[in-house]
Order: sequence, then structure tokens, then C-alpha cells
Amino acid sequence: KEIFLKDYKLPDYYFDTVDLKFSLGEEKTYVSSKISVIPRVEGSSAPLVLNGQDLNLVSVKVNEKELKDGDYLLDSRHLTLPSPPSGVFTLEIVTEIYPQKNTSLEGLYKSSGNFCTQCEAEGFRKITYYQDRPDIMARYTCRIEADKALYPVLLSNGNLIEQGDLEDGRHYALWEDPFKKPCYLFALVAGKLESRDDSFITRAGRKVSLRIWTPSQDLPKTGHAMHSLKAAMKWDEDVFGLEYDLDLFNIVAVPDFNMGAMENKSLNIFNSKLVLASPETATDADYAAILGVIGHEYFHNWTGNRVTCRDWFQLSLKEGLTVFRDQEFSSDMGSRTVKRISDVSKLRIYQYPQDAGPMAHPVRPHSYIKMDNFYTVTVYEKGAEVVRMYKTLLGSQGFRKGMDLYFQRHDGQAVTCEDFFAAMRDANDAEFSNFLLWYSQAGTPTVKVTSSYNAEAHTFSLKFCQEVPPTPGQPVKEPMFIPVSVGLLDSTGKDMPLSSVHHDGTLQSIAKDGQPVYSTVLRVTKKEEEFVFADVHERPIPSLLRGFSAPIRLESDLAESDLFFLLAHDSDEFNRWEAGQVLARKLMLTLVADFQQKKPLVLDPKFVHGLGSILRDPSLDKEFIAKAITLPGEGEIMDMMDVADPDAAHAVRVFIRKQIAQELKGDLISTVENNRSSDGYVFNHDNMARRALKNIALAYLAALDDPECTALAMHEYQTATNMTEQFAALAAIAQNPTKTREEVLADFYSKWQHDFLVVNKWFALQAMSNIPGNVENVRNLLNHPAFDLRNPNKVYSLIGGFCGSPVNFHAKDGSGYKFLGEVVVQLDKINPQVASRMVSAFSRWRRYDGTRQNLAKAQLEMIMSTNGLSENVFEIASKSLGA
Ligand code: ARG
Ligand code: ZN
Repeated sequence: KEIFLKDYKLPDYYFDTVDLKFSLGEEKTYVSSKISVIPRVEGSSAPLVLNGQDLNLVSVKVNEKELKDGDYLLDSRHLTLPSPPSGVFTLEIVTEIYPQKNTSLEGLYKSSGNFCTQCEAEGFRKITYYQDRPDIMARYTCRIEADKALYPVLLSNGNLIEQGDLEDGRHYALWEDPFKKPCYLFALVAGKLESRDDSFITRAGRKVSLRIWTPSQDLPKTGHAMHSLKAAMKWDEDVFGLEYDLDLFNIVAVPDFNMGAMENKSLNIFNSKLVLASPETATDADYAAILGVIGHEYFHNWTGNRVTCRDWFQLSLKEGLTVFRDQEFSSDMGSRTVKRISDVSKLRIYQYPQDAGPMAHPVRPHSYIKMDNFYTVTVYEKGAEVVRMYKTLLGSQGFRKGMDLYFQRHDGQAVTCEDFFAAMRDANDAEFSNFLLWYSQAGTPTVKVTSSYNAEAHTFSLKFCQEVPPTPGQPVKEPMFIPVSVGLLDSTGKDMPLSSVHHDGTLQSIAKDGQPVYSTVLRVTKKEEEFVFADVHERPIPSLLRGFSAPIRLESDLAESDLFFLLAHDSDEFNRWEAGQVLARKLMLTLVADFQQKKPLVLDPKFVHGLGSILRDPSLDKEFIAKAITLPGEGEIMDMMDVADPDAAHAVRVFIRKQIAQELKGDLISTVENNRSSDGYVFNHDNMARRALKNIALAYLAALDDPECTALAMHEYQTATNMTEQFAALAAIAQNPTKTREEVLADFYSKWQHDFLVVNKWFALQAMSNIPGNVENVRNLLNHPAFDLRNPNKVYSLIGGFCGSPVNFHAKDGSGYKFLGEVVVQLDKINPQVASRMVSAFSRWRRYDGTRQNLAKAQLEMIMSTNGLSENVFEIASKSLGA
């Protein structure tokens, strides 16, 4: 059943307090809930409809009187009271559930012997009958009873107010959360866990106990997560003036978790891979992800929990904003430029294809069948770009004013994206024209820019022409409000001072208080629009969309020589990187055409020269260098082709990598040698940057598959003292289908088989491989003793990894598609959310040639015809087929 934003109605009943009691057992678990219900309109007696799924109803009482069969209606998804009392009343419901059989990992379930919950978006209805919607905000207590030996630790939201022993070796704990919350923020954990304890003193002097819970053997690996949490608490105070509001903050790590983590009030639950780290077992990327996600979930306490969403269509209200906040946090903890490059790459690689395919949806979707399918890169990452645009338009201080007003107006409420927009606007008296279209129009705008210099008039003109492509359900689009940050470089590579610009018949001054300005934000709002800079005394080279000021595709008329110039000189480091990427994309597309016409491939020496000078430039940040010499992926290139050709894109990328490695071999070898670790692992920017540069140099070299380079990679593998370098060396060697590859892979497994997070890396590396015919390997790995279809991380590594291989997933004989089709059907019976994420790999099937189209379509049809298909997979598969 499809649900529409336009059908939103206020609830007929509010819930004031909710008292839950869990009696946890091995065979069955009882849940009793006692709710004080308040009609929204005094005296009305509309039916009260509660959501519920996979529940066994034991009893229902209204005002302490048990209801008989005919007093309520029960179907597979609802419990309805047709005529509840008018006025305030209490409702008591007892259900029986079976967490030990719950493989969907939604609601209450067991993960390696411990009980835990995941309620967002709509999992609370698998625990008890409830109005499962975020605009129902109530104060909760939660009493948990369980066997004391098996479940010594009992956790829920808020403060622990009572605990004690019971008969038969059982015990209990009573928790009370003083803050009103929607049920998706409810959480419960019971198990054999131990905690790393620390504390944080807030600006106001509140001493907060911090506890990170894991099985005891994992405790040593929680140090970085604790460090990240304290850094996040401090940062939110410093940057947004936001403090923590309780005396206790718990984080629990569980190995079976559908997503990354969950911001339940004061009881965050995390996928273990985003908590556990040690230098020997986690890479720099893992450390950075932990920092970002610990921050993200903590930041939700204000953006999500204190102020929440009115309905699920508003998801980006909390997710876009919180992703923006975690991006800024990570920027401030490391390198701002490098973080921006990573975030923009993520947007391009994952969100642009979504925005151009059958699952394209606005940042605020208009409808859904299964909400879980809308926890997407569009809602999260494009949503974060939308928030970033407010900051670009208002400046840091203006943005902060908007945030302050947002909390002042909406603390304790469930609100909409317009409320956020209005706070930003009102706090700054800003004129935001049609900015709200960013929430309602899907599709990535394309902006074409043409420039011209008038030497007599000393003016420089930029003409913009925007186009928003049609997307499902939105054939015609309106022009959007696009902030374009611009600077002009003079012939020495310096930014020119910008004095004023002609636009819309007026001359607007850019200089502020007589101070020269070197970068300005143009407000592009029309389909076609011209801006003419005055007092430009030589032909400039424009640096456009600095810092990637809007999530668009920019097509400029810059010449190749201009791009090389920007690559060498732009003061905006993001645009230096971008200039290199534009050059690389152009070059790769040209070579793809040559490859398809069976012409010999020749690499432009200017390109190699450009990369060489970046590689050798001692003034540049090493992590920036690593990013700048990384070629765009096959996906990005396919995204720019009329018919995506995975074989050509891959062949060209491999060809360029080998050429570069050959021609810069000396530099690359010294890069490896000069960037080895001198002492132990440190997680800080300089050390990460050094390792990143060393590792990419090694990957280039190993692509050559010559004895000298392979020996170097083997040496790095054997001498590595941390996972970042060890795994990079393994991956470098594994590029080539050699005997060495098999030996090193086997060696790595035997070293790490006891550590499931490291084994997942090993699965992913093999699964993603482009070595010919790899589908057979991956099939075999499904039967590997360490693999388990019930664990999402393992599925994401092996199946998700495989779908990332352009060559093998898209194998022309259809073997990759057939493999995925079979796995999806099997998985759907176990875990629909995970199956649905996997089936998404088919969604862009129309981008490929006829043969591939038919093969992929056949798999989608096979999936659609499966009995008992989940709504999750149904939604993605049917939308992909365009049915
Ligand atoms: N709110 C969580 C986060 O971003 C994501 C939980 C989504 N879970 C789900 N099953 N859809 O931080
Ligand atoms: Zn989130």
C-alpha cells in the first residue's frame, strides 16, 4: 500500500505517558504497555487505530476493564478500538512476541545471544500495538525483567530509577526517560555486556557518565569510539551551543544490525563495525567512519530527538541536517578540503545515479510503500547539501542564528522541512526565492556556463543556463535557486579582487565595507541568467562552484589549458581537485570511444605530467595528493555515457593506471619508501595523509604486475604493523590474477579468521574484484564457513561488494545478474530490508546495452513473480521495472 505526503492528517489521539514492561524469555517474551490516551479534540470519539505486526495479542484493557472479542477489531496489521471513551483514558495491552525468531532485525530481536531493538522507522509495531508515527510523542518508563545470569545488563532510555533481584534467578531494572519522544526512539538492550566508562562535563557543569557496551573481549577496541564521543560533545557545544541533557549516555555495539547505527534517546545502538577499532584490525577509513557516525548519532540528540519529524516524509529534516553536522564535525577534526572531496565523491558516485534512475525521489519524497526504502543517499547526502546551501547563502553566523531560532521555536515538537526553512529565513530576514524546490523536485540540475571577456569595457560575463531533468512522476521542472560560489584568477594564478557585478539591470557591489572580496556567491534562480563582473582588467580564468556550492552537474566552456591552470593554482583547493577530475573524466571518455572503435589507446602526456607535478609538490597536503591522483571510478564514467559500457570503462581505467604507473614509476617508488611509518599507529591527519599517499602509490605500482613492484607490495604486506597498510598492500597485490594473489589472500584469512570484522574486509576485497569470471569465486564464498546470510555486514561485504564490480556483476553472459537474482529471493525470506538494498543494484538496468537489459530485466521479473515477496523488495523491483 502506497502512502502519500498529501494525505497527512493530525492524529485523533495523543499519548501522554507510556509504561512498558518486558518479560524477556528464551521461548517467548511478554510486552505489556499502559498508555494514557488523550483525544486531540475534547469529546470526539473517533476510532483509535493502532499499528501492529507479527504480534500475538494477549489482552486489551480500557480504563482497567478487559475488552472482549467483539469490543475491538484485529487484522494482520491493526488493532482498532471502534469507539473508545470520550475524554482521557488508559489503555493496557499485552502482547507475546518471539525475538529469537526475528531475523528481520527490526523490532525486538537477538544478536549473538543478547536482546536489542531497532524501531526506526516502523519497527515499534513489531513490539506492541501502538500509533507508530513520529508525531505521537510521549514520556516513557520501561521495566525489563530477565534471567540474571544470561542477561546481567538491562538497558533502556533515560535514567535508571530502580533495580533488583526476583525469584527463579531473574532480575529487573526500571528506566524512566524524562523527555517526550516518538516510539521510533525507544530502545531496549539486555545481555552479557561490559562497559568502557568515562565522563564528560558539559559547559553548564553537568557531569555526564559515558558508557560503551560490548562483549568483554571487545572492550579494548572501544577507545577510539569513546574519544570520538567526547570530541563530538565538545564540538556541538562550541559550534552550535548545544549541550547534552541527561546524566547518562550509553552506546551499545551489536554485530547484527541492518544499518550503521541508531540514535535512540540516551541509548544509541551501533553496528559493531562502527564502534570497534584497533590499529591492527581497523583501517584509517574505519577510524574516520567511527568518528563521523558516533558524531552523527550524538548530534541527533538535538536534531532528531529534541526536535523530531512530523511524519516520515520529513526524514531529511533530521537526516540531511545531521549528516551536514557530522560532515562539519569531521572537517573540523581533520582536513576540510579532503572531507569535502570525499563527500562530493560520495554524492556523485551514489546519489547522482539514483537521481537519474527509476528510484529518483525528492529530498522530501511524495510517497512510499515501505519507508525503509527511503533511507537513501538522496534524503541523507543530497539533504545535507541542501542544508549546506543555507550556510553558503547566510554565512556561518547567519546559519547559526537560523539554528538557534529553529530550537527556540520547535524544541519538543515534531515538525516539517518548511519549519526549518522558515527558521533560517526569519532569523536572517533572508529572501530565499524558490529555494523550497530543493525539497520537492527530484533530479540533478545541469547548469551550463559560458564566459566571455570584454577587453574594452573591462567586464567579464558568466551566462548560466539550467535544466532539471524529468524524473518519475515529474515530467516538467521549474528552474531552481542555485548558489554558485565564484572566484576569478589572474594570469599569475592569484584571485582577483571582485568589486561589483551587473545583474538584472542593476550594478551590485561585492566588496564589503571597502574590503576587497575574492570569492562571491551568485544567486542563480532563472532558466537563463547573466552576471557581468565590472572592473576586470585582464582576461580571468573563472573558478566556478567553489567548494561545490550546489549539488548540480556543471558544464563549463573552460578549455583544457584553463583546467590545467586551475589544477595548478586555484586558491579553492576543492576546485583544484575538481579541475583534475574534469580533465580525467574528459580523457577517460575519449579513450572509451577509442576502445569501442578498437583504436589503439594512447595517453595524453600532459595528463601524466600534471599528475606528476601534483605527486612531487612538497607544499601540498599528502591526503590531497592522494585524492588528486585518484581517477574517477568506472561508475562515474558510465554515468556520463549514452549507453553504459562497463567493459570499456574498466579497460580504459586499467590502461590509464598502468600507463601512469609506468611513467611515474620512480616517483611512485620513492613515495612508498618515503612514507613508511616510523613508529606506532596514530590516528591524526598527518599520519593518515601519509598512509593514504603511500597506499595509493603502492596500488599504482602493483597494477604493473612486474616482479619488482610485486616484491615491494609483498614487503609492505609483511612488514605492516597496522591494518591500513596491511590491507592496502593486500588489495594492491590482489589486483592481478596471480598465484601470489591466492597465497596472500589465504595468508590473510589464516591470520584473521578469529576477527569477523576483518574477515568481512577479506570477503569484500574478493567480491569486488574485476578478475575475469569471479562470479564462481563469489558463489563459493557463499558456502565459506565464515559466511552467513543472516548477518547484514557479511551480505554487504560479499553480495554488495560483488555488485560493485563493473566487469563481473555486469558480465555479458548474465551470470552476475543471475547470481544476484537468486540471492535476493533467498535473502528476502530472512531479512527484507537487506534484500531490498541488494535488489537496488538492478535499478539502473536500462542504462546498459540490449543484451544486458534483457538479462537484468529477466531477473527482476523472476523476483517479482516470487511468492510471498516483501513490500520492501516489491517496491524497488516494481519501480525498477517501471510497472
Ligand atoms: N536514524 C538512523 C541514522 O541515520 C538510521 C536508522 C534507519 N533504520 C532503518 N531501518 N531504516 O542515524
Ligand atoms: Zn541519522
